[in-house]
Amino acid sequence: MKFFIDTANLSQIREAQDLGVLDGVTTNPSLMAKEGITGHQNVLNHYKAICEIVDDNVSAEVIATEYDEMIKEGEALAAIDSKIVVKIPMIKDGIKAIKYFSNKGIRTNCTLVFSAGQAILAAKAGATYLSPFIGRIDDMNWDGVELIHQISTIYAIQNFDTQILAASVRNSLQIVKCAEAGADVVTCPLSAILGLLKHPLTDLGLAQFLADHKKANS
Ligand code: E4P
Repeated sequence: MKFFIDTANLSQIREAQDLGVLDGVTTNPSLMAKEGITGHQNVLNHYKAICEIVDDNVSAEVIATEYDEMIKEGEALAAIDSKIVVKIPMIKDGIKAIKYFSNKGIRTNCTLVFSAGQAILAAKAGATYLSPFIGRIDDMNWDGVELIHQISTIYAIQNFDTQILAASVRNSLQIVKCAEAGADVVTCPLSAILGLLKHPLTDLGLAQFLADHKKANS
């Protein structure tokens, strides 16, 4: 399973990259705005800066919602670096744009996915990644992880190549549950990745080992 970090914050991306387990980055217009990145050229420059930190898989989202504009914007994003994956919303023109980029060999991430039907459509269009937003589904009192499981079952039966990118993952338990449900990728904040480290018995055990070593060697 791949780990992507879900942020536009360069220092958090660097910290995750330094850990040695990072496979990519996802951003969205809200995350860019949170970092104060505004204006077309600044946004492009920021994507370039992210590409310089990580090895691959930098999702860059189009703002356009109309086909011709999506193609123009997506091509400009893809031209920044070969690490860019063009992120496209699950709307009618988005599906057409995914098909266009798929035919051109440009990788796509279909975003804002909330149902198995949408997952089938994105896979038919040739999306590289599919982003079901599991946290937002949980927020509505439905089961986000169950959707990952359902899509994983469908993609296996139908031999779809599209990779399931569990998005809107906000804590460490959701990472584990998504892995169990068949996600190919999870994208989450740095805190959720670092949370995987935590277990009180690890801390207690290490303290005991170090104390015993000190006693035996003093
Ligand atoms: C990533 O691709 C999504 O944009 C992101 O995970 C959404 O997360 P949120 O629901 O916590 O905003």
